[in-house]
Amino acid sequence: MYLTREEERTLNGENGWANQTCMKILVRLGELFHAEKLIPITSAHVSGISYKTLGDAPIEYLKALADADAKVKVKATLNPQSLDPTYLTGKLPKDLKQKQLEILKQFNRMGLTESLTCTPYYLSKTKQGSHMAWAESSAVVYSNSVLGAWTNREGGPSALAAAIIGKTPEYGIHKPENRQPNIQVNLRGKLQNETDFGILGIHLGKLLRDKIPTINELKDAPRDSLKQLSAAIATTGMTNMFHFTPTSERKKIERLNVELKDLKHTKEELSTASDRKPDLVFLGCPHCSVNEMKKIAQSVRGKRVKHGIEFWVCTSCHVREKTQDCAEEIERSGGHVLTGVCTVVSWTEKLGIKTIMTNSAKTAYYAPTLSKAEAILAPTRECLKTAVEG
Ligand code: F3S
Repeated sequence: MYLTREEERTLNGENGWANQTCMKILVRLGELFHAEKLIPITSAHVSGISYKTLGDAPIEYLKALADADAKVKVKATLNPQSLDPTYLTGKLPKDLKQKQLEILKQFNRMGLTESLTCTPYYLSKTKQGSHMAWAESSAVVYSNSVLGAWTNREGGPSALAAAIIGKTPEYGIHKPENRQPNIQVNLRGKLQNETDFGILGIHLGKLLRDKIPTINELKDAPRDSLKQLSAAIATTGMTNMFHFTPTSERKKIERLNVELKDLKHTKEELSTASDRKPDLVFLGCPHCSVNEMKKIAQSVRGKRVKHGIEFWVCTSCHVREKTQDCAEEIERSGGHVLTGVCTVVSWTEKLGIKTIMTNSAKTAYYAPTLSKAEAILAPTRECLKTAVEG
């Protein structure tokens, strides 16, 4: 891989151990994927922040980087952590909070923004065509497909290395020829709500692996539904983007038909506890948009969350600040607006939650393994109805 003189100096350790370590990660990655050079990035988004999913081992590495004066060179944001500053902090053991704070402290020392959200694209406008190094798979697919930005699916360490160097290896989806659709998905039927988009994503992710589909019927889909599709397609497969425009009939391209009965079957697989009452109704995977906050607040206005049911709405601090009235409305109803966290990266099992009702196919998919809970997958309006009526 070609390196500039400055990049070579960094690789040789002339700019300190932290920069050398990060450059080594990027060069190794670039060589693995036959990148010819490094390219500048406009932003990085780092995942693996939650103590629940990260564990103890990487804390020493983060501390070593921060001790060696590692500093980010581009805007760098963080994915959700394992607890919010108020509600869950008061319910979970103190030592977990201490460990989580230690992780955040190291990222702060390196200059990462404590955004704590999987929807960093709500924080500021993502420029079309900008090259980025993002590590949250749902945000990667959404920004490539809906926002027109360019990012590979990074791991936490490579996104952090890219943030510190300000560059990423030029391979994969950073090259125009790798962004072309190579399979046409013909959806036979109409998706009714955002949860259906998530179910389609889970179904397609399994079949497509890393292929790039163009999917009919998406042109006028609401962005919140495309967010569900993005999160779900990345959950079961390695697809990094999708397109909206159907390819010409004449174009020789693989074709895949998806029937509504396929999606019904996928929904049944995800809904492992459809006949039970939930302990928790959870909305906000991926983190809620301003629009979603407004809709939820409107729906619970003047109502009370049913006794015995937890009702959580997860979003970023940024969106919560912009929708303070809505957050207060949700909390007046007995719900909790939790910032910087979600059920998947927190310890719901330690709170005795055994059944989670959600509108998110991604959360439903992970519930049995990561949350040790059964899932009820249903559209937002059904989730809200259950939250207040039981
Ligand atoms: Fe975000 Fe948690 Fe879902 S990080 S995409 S809300 S699993």
